[in-house]
Amino acid sequence: MLVVTGVYRVPISEVRSGMRLGKSVRMPGGRILLQAGTELKAAYLEPLKRHGIAAVYVINELAPDVEPADVVSDEVRSGLSTDFRQLLSQLSDAFADASKRYRAQINIGPLKQAVANLVDELLVDRNAVVNLQDIRTADEYTLGHSVNVCILSVLLGTALDYNVGELRDLGLGALMHDIGKVAIPPEILRKPGVLTPEEFALMKTHTTLGAQILRDQGFVSYTAASVALQHHERWEGGGYPLGLSGDQIFKFSRICAIADCYDALTADRVYRKGMPPARARQLLVEEMRHFFDPEMLGTFLPLTAPYPVGSMVELTDGQVAVVVAVERRNVECPRVRVILGADRAGLAEPYEIDLALHSATEIARPFQEIVPELPPDLLAADG
Ligand SMILES: [Fe+2]
Repeated sequence: MLVVTGVYRVPISEVRSGMRLGKSVRMPGGRILLQAGTELKAAYLEPLKRHGIAAVYVINELAPDVEPADVVSDEVRSGLSTDFRQLLSQLSDAFADASKRYRAQINIGPLKQAVANLVDELLVDRNAVVNLQDIRTADEYTLGHSVNVCILSVLLGTALDYNVGELRDLGLGALMHDIGKVAIPPEILRKPGVLTPEEFALMKTHTTLGAQILRDQGFVSYTAASVALQHHERWEGGGYPLGLSGDQIFKFSRICAIADCYDALTADRVYRKGMPPARARQLLVEEMRHFFDPEMLGTFLPLTAPYPVGSMVELTDGQVAVVVAVERRNVECPRVRVILGADRAGLAEPYEIDLALHSATEIARPFQEIVPELPPDLLAADG
């Protein structure tokens, strides 16, 4: 099996010939389109875009040994995706045929087991920090988003010390938070621009429809189903569908609201690039802070890396570094490896500094927009 390390995420618009894929690119359904290790060529860009691939992971040639770890294993993530994809397709079929609508025979067992596996894994490493964003295709945005919201919600639940039973319930509810979208017309769901007031009113009904589907199917608890109904309610009021506020909103729904917004902000879409995690976190605590339970938001922030492992950052002294380790207790100040000087020349001897211990140096901004060139002196050292 090909093992590659040192990967970072690049939106398709910034992919350049010669970059090597750090992770295989999969089509909807899971079939591999391009294998990890493939050298990208201009001719591959069109097929990638055609399949709705918005970003890929490429190898960072300047720091090939630095690999971001996902908070969950590939097996757990793909188990959730596979079982949830099946549930979505069964529900979509049921909605396409009104006569079957409320008689769909759905076996929820495998999905409950997939959520239980996720909970077990997240309970093992209580220091995990989110470094990787899921790469999803346009067709599977809702699927990828639901799986991510489920993972982020359970992660926040573990940090809030919920018990296993609560975490499983929370995970299932979060996974199904947007289940009502199976009943929303696809042309509205996939509309890239701003929705008209009528379209938005219809879109909002995914909350009540979702709760109704879950109640009619009867396969999740009342508490899990309440997430579908309440995940667009806001802490200070003004949300939908009921306009609840504060503790009136069930705690699982308050958790899901944070995970839902964070993932939607950072996700790459075909028509726009996802926000860097640092900017998304800033939006959550500034412009959007009245949407969320402040205590829960405070617990959530240390769980996500503003500058994920493998990403490039410019430091306040002008040098460029790659993030090599992020710890929950100080996610803003990771350990970095300085690889380029302020003049952008490769350092003969890259060195690491722990920014938590060096208050004089801080991260000024992400360096992802600039494609790293392999400095000739590093090439020479390689040979
Ligand atoms: Fe939603």
